[in-house]
Amino acid sequence: MANLSALPRLDKALYQSLYQESIANPGQFWSKMATDFLDFETTWDRVSTCTFKEGDIRWFEGAKLNVSANCLDRHMASKANQPALIIEGDDPAHTEILTYKDVLEKVCQMANVLKALGIQKGDRVCLYLPMIPSTAIAMLACARIGAIHTVVFAGFSAQALRSRIIDAECTCVITADENIRGGKTYPLKANVAQALSEPSAVTQVLVIKNTGNPVPADPLRDIWYHDVAPSQSNWCPPESMEAEDPLFILYTSGSTGSPKGVLHTTAGYALYAAMTFRWVFDYQPEDVFWCTADAGWITGHTYSLYGPLLNGATTLWFEGVPTHPTPSRFWEIIDKHQVNIFYTAPTAIRALMAMGDEPVKKTKRDSLKLLGTVGEPINPEAWQWYHEVVGNGQCDIVDTWWQTETGGIMLAPIPHVGNQKPGAAGLPFFGVCPALVDDNGTQLSGEAEGNLVITQSWPGQMRTVFNHHDRFVETYFARWPGLYATGDGARRDDDGDITITGRVDDIINMAGHRIGTAEVESALVQHPKVAEAAVVGIPHDIKGQSLYAFVRLMDGTQGDDALQTELLSLIEHHIGKFARNCQMQWCSDLPKTRSGKIMRRILRALASGEPEAIGDTSTLANPEIVEALKLKTKPLTFA
Ligand code: WT7
Repeated sequence: MANLSALPRLDKALYQSLYQESIANPGQFWSKMATDFLDFETTWDRVSTCTFKEGDIRWFEGAKLNVSANCLDRHMASKANQPALIIEGDDPAHTEILTYKDVLEKVCQMANVLKALGIQKGDRVCLYLPMIPSTAIAMLACARIGAIHTVVFAGFSAQALRSRIIDAECTCVITADENIRGGKTYPLKANVAQALSEPSAVTQVLVIKNTGNPVPADPLRDIWYHDVAPSQSNWCPPESMEAEDPLFILYTSGSTGSPKGVLHTTAGYALYAAMTFRWVFDYQPEDVFWCTADAGWITGHTYSLYGPLLNGATTLWFEGVPTHPTPSRFWEIIDKHQVNIFYTAPTAIRALMAMGDEPVKKTKRDSLKLLGTVGEPINPEAWQWYHEVVGNGQCDIVDTWWQTETGGIMLAPIPHVGNQKPGAAGLPFFGVCPALVDDNGTQLSGEAEGNLVITQSWPGQMRTVFNHHDRFVETYFARWPGLYATGDGARRDDDGDITITGRVDDIINMAGHRIGTAEVESALVQHPKVAEAAVVGIPHDIKGQSLYAFVRLMDGTQGDDALQTELLSLIEHHIGKFARNCQMQWCSDLPKTRSGKIMRRILRALASGEPEAIGDTSTLANPEIVEALKLKTKPLTFA
């Protein structure tokens, strides 16, 4: 039995010795960690077997456990009445606190509802839900019965929802009537109806009453949760899961093609979530932890739910937005619930910083011990403001680098261990072997800048792209055989600290939302007047990056504001409202190599207003187009 309360706090010496052990003797290290952090029904035969070449990654094979039991049941003896989940509604008057006992009972009840609907181990259940308690309950209820959840961020459009439901072959969708963010109502159930208006494998839609407003209903498919739940017991035995049974699928954008269903499994993911939560945030018993990420993203999975509950912590969920009803909302919530550890994205910090210090200074924030950031590089100005103004100069800033694919934090200035340097994501977590390589895959030593790769497997690593293992191997392991390619560029300084410089592929990170250029382009070319489109990311002072599209129209067609609005609506339709922020430039052609490949590097330089970065154009089939594009490139605007 794990004894979480006996876990040590890290300091420099302990970090160094554990890190050494994790690299030199991974079998022994991970065995010990698994025993310290998780409860298993049966132990493993082998700690790991991993080959990057085939993308064959397995941890703790032979072991059996259930993640929901590790999140809930095992804490009942000591923490039944401790808050597990604090919910702060969009309306500041709405607060809900669920203890470990409450959550366990609700999870069991929903698990029984799902079972009664015929959902079995291995079935895929789509959750299209906002930040309400039922979302946490539904994720854990799936884990309890061995169903695989795939949470789709409620900001995605009906079309984006549909493509995920189809790809994951979901048979059930759990949604709510509507959700409210920033005082605005969003039509979740109506979007689900639209997503399912054409054939799919979905036979049941379980609907949670959230706002209570009337919504479109399908009597054959819909089931109101409040109709079926009361007859179900609040005890459900946890399904015994194999270590490598899937826990969830989460879609994320790649540089090519449609979003990929990133698959995470049971033991390795849970262990990595639990350990990183504990040590990267220096979590101490009774701390109140708040991660502002939505459950629709990996940060919401690992650090709003699984990491904290695996540690028996109190996790706060916020349904609303940072500026509603006032720009003090985040800081008021921190005071109201005495939040000790706060974890958010640089884009939110920059947006709030732009509103001045006064909304922050109205509040105390004296409960805060540690401030984390995630999702994109944090610029030194935002880092300083976060440290001085938000943290009253008292808190460590922990800039965490990781990805949907990595399952948990990979690099961070670990408290009491790493250096506090604005912008640096610091040192590797246990078992993580980062390296920098040049474009030929040659490893760079010492102070250097290059492509960030990981040389050895870690337990939180994704296992495959659901139903497309070839895409998994191709995307992450084909370019430099034997290495996991992160898609990020990075710089290592003479202390060994790593600073992430940004994506080296065609993924755009806009306000912490990962968007593939290919997805936006395929939305744009749906328009009959569009012949071709190329989308790049350009710097944006709040969102980090925003979208810029070069659009070639069909011969004889003129671009105008009306057409631009139609194209923006197409982006909204295919992806979601959050992707609507896109400048457009009409063009007669796109810079291409002789083999027909669009040279995005050139477009990026043009759109970013850095013509000096255009570089060599001699490999272009049509170098003359560059001058023509330059003349018409729009200045950067910060909408
Ligand atoms: C990409 C992953 C898992 C975190 C949420 C985003 C960028 C993430 C940092 C950071 C600089 C960062 C990278 C990465 N990123 N954290 N601390 N500093 N860049 O997950 O949507 O899978 O995106 O976000 O480019 O590859 P994601």
